[in-house]
Amino acid sequence: KMDAFINNLMSKMTIDEKIGQLNLPVASGDITTGQANSSDISKKIKAGQVGGLFNIKGIDKIKTAQQLAVEGSRLKIPLLFGMDVIHGYHTVFPIPLGLSATWDMDAVKKSARVAAIEASANGINWTFSPMVDIARDPRWGRVSEGSGEDPYLGSEIAKAMVTGYQGKLQANNEILACVKHYALYGAAEAGRDYNPADMSRLKMYNEYFPPYKAAVEAGAASIMASFNEVEGIPATGSKWLMTEVLRNQWGFKGFVVTDYTGIPEMIEHGMGDLQTVSALALNAGIDMDMVGEGFLLTLKKSLAEKKVTIAQINNACRLILQAKYKLGLFADPYKFCDIGRAEKEVFTPENRQIAREIAAESFVLLKNKNNILPLKKTGTIGLVGPLADNTANMFGTWSVAALLDRSVTVLQGLKNALGTNAEILTARGSNFLADSVMENRYVNIHNPTYKRDPRSEAELIKEALEVAEKSDVLVAVMGEGSEFSGESSSVTSIEIPQTQRNLLKALAKTGKPVVLVLFTGRPLALKWEEENIPAILNVWFPGSEAGNAIADVLFGKVNPSGKLTATFPQNIGQIPLYYAHKNTGRPLAEGKWFAKFRSNYLDVSNDPLYPFGFGLSYTIFNFSDIKLSSSTLTSGKTITATVTLTNTGKYDGKEVVQLYIRDLVGSITRPVKELKGFKKVSLKAGESKEITFTISENDLKFYNSELKFVSEPGDFKLFIGPNVRDVKEVNFKLIK
Ligand code: IFM
Repeated sequence: KMDAFINNLMSKMTIDEKIGQLNLPVASGDITTGQANSSDISKKIKAGQVGGLFNIKGIDKIKTAQQLAVEGSRLKIPLLFGMDVIHGYHTVFPIPLGLSATWDMDAVKKSARVAAIEASANGINWTFSPMVDIARDPRWGRVSEGSGEDPYLGSEIAKAMVTGYQGKLQANNEILACVKHYALYGAAEAGRDYNPADMSRLKMYNEYFPPYKAAVEAGAASIMASFNEVEGIPATGSKWLMTEVLRNQWGFKGFVVTDYTGIPEMIEHGMGDLQTVSALALNAGIDMDMVGEGFLLTLKKSLAEKKVTIAQINNACRLILQAKYKLGLFADPYKFCDIGRAEKEVFTPENRQIAREIAAESFVLLKNKNNILPLKKTGTIGLVGPLADNTANMFGTWSVAALLDRSVTVLQGLKNALGTNAEILTARGSNFLADSVMENRYVNIHNPTYKRDPRSEAELIKEALEVAEKSDVLVAVMGEGSEFSGESSSVTSIEIPQTQRNLLKALAKTGKPVVLVLFTGRPLALKWEEENIPAILNVWFPGSEAGNAIADVLFGKVNPSGKLTATFPQNIGQIPLYYAHKNTGRPLAEGKWFAKFRSNYLDVSNDPLYPFGFGLSYTIFNFSDIKLSSSTLTSGKTITATVTLTNTGKYDGKEVVQLYIRDLVGSITRPVKELKGFKKVSLKAGESKEITFTISENDLKFYNSELKFVSEPGDFKLFIGPNVRDVKEVNFKLIK
């Protein structure tokens, strides 16, 4: 039915109209303001030169634009409306790195579902999410937008998000997902955004490709090409990536869109003029041109000059029409323009409650000396730091639809939780950065509501110390502002800015107990904090319900259960530091710091500060030894690995039971550990549960030197524990 419909439609389309479907401009002029029909974009829509629009917010404006397409253009083809709804719409969830720290796939999926419901109620039918780039360099600002360093976990999250957004693509709240940024964007050299990514194909297939592939297999409707080059060719122009791997090897059936001006940027990459790079992109397998207008301006000429074929244009056009058909836009172009829904389904108390629960679940308790946390709801709490009462910085990067003044601040959250039971004293204590020009670069561009305190560092600290003097416990809320991480926010220092650390030092000196509530969009180097501050709760950027979720955890209504999905190094010089590294021929013996002629540093041990999978709880979980159903796994069969998990502490809680495997001998070198399973389990105080994982030959497969996905018989180690470091282990064999 779809094919017949599209064949019929395409038989009526001119070349120009087909090329028009491949064009994705950004909304501007009258389209963003929703008025007259005179601007360039309006004219283009009516002329059939626009396939979709993005960055258009508001159902009325979207409806107007759709009307122009279906009532004003010759063939009445509806538009796609895309937006970066990457961690919620009006109801903002934790940044994706925080979401991943929940290790809770139902929660991840639910956040995507709510985001799709809210965005679609406001006319959006396509989200540029999930970002599934594996990232192992915290200098790169976009670490915040992904799920961390691990391909297995990243793949699970990719699937959960795609299915959360898309569902069955039937209802009017199910929207197209766009998996990004294909490929290897997270491996930008030196963590500098847009830099080349250069690695062996073995590393690509085994470590960086799996989440893209998993998203494709989960039925992702679209994929976005990345800005970076791969093997000397910008991804946007790489036929190997876009056609050979994506379509021929993985069977992708959706459409591929460039990133913002990805096509003309190939001119800067040094690939030729606009006509050349546009033809290169189409030949590579790109279907839609985001903002660049290279397709619109040059493809017809390239067709006449036989630099591209009509079959290629037809194919790209067909894929975009198919997406529109699957969304149901031909049946009802206004399917996502129901004003009634917008009023009822966006930023609801129910959605905010879900955001609150998920945020609390994303927090990672990094340290809790002498069980300072949870705090009592009595006495006087001194609340200080640049993020203590900062509405706009609760959201994190790409919060494009956030209601900047409608977040719950930490101060408000504490007040909500405490009522009149305890007193809260507050002081700003510090700005984000000492230097106002630098701070402006980090903060203000996207956060017009942020106001710097004009007082000097000494004056700010003095005021905080006055508060400290009168308080029983100090809660310091500091770290990164929303735009410290995200696109084009690469850094060469990953420590808490000095002016904030100066405040923290002054607070620590008072001898009062200090709880650091840390906001961050990337792994930070927290060695000083670990050594000097008794409690550290990493809250990432929690979103709309930040303050309430933080209070829930600080006062013990929720027991923290988040676990790191990216290794936190001791210092920046250790980067890249990730758990699934190779052993080398000269590994350092476990537990050692340094040995001459071993693979290590003179000045710092190889250990991370906080390992992958790490996160504390208010309760204590005890892991039994591992029981294997058999120590030999035969091809085609399975074995099970079981541990008994006991909550021996005083609080109910959740633990993430993590399974790792090491392939001891291979035809290529294999990582020292690889995550192969995890289960998030809830246990009442005193309760025990048996946790069982099933292992099959498939779990042992990897891409070999010929890029064949194989398993190899031999010896393996299997580890289970609460993080990658503190594990129990057993051996087993694969027999083929
Ligand atoms: O989706 C984004 C992408 O992640 C970075 N460049 C801009 C796109 C559209 O806003």
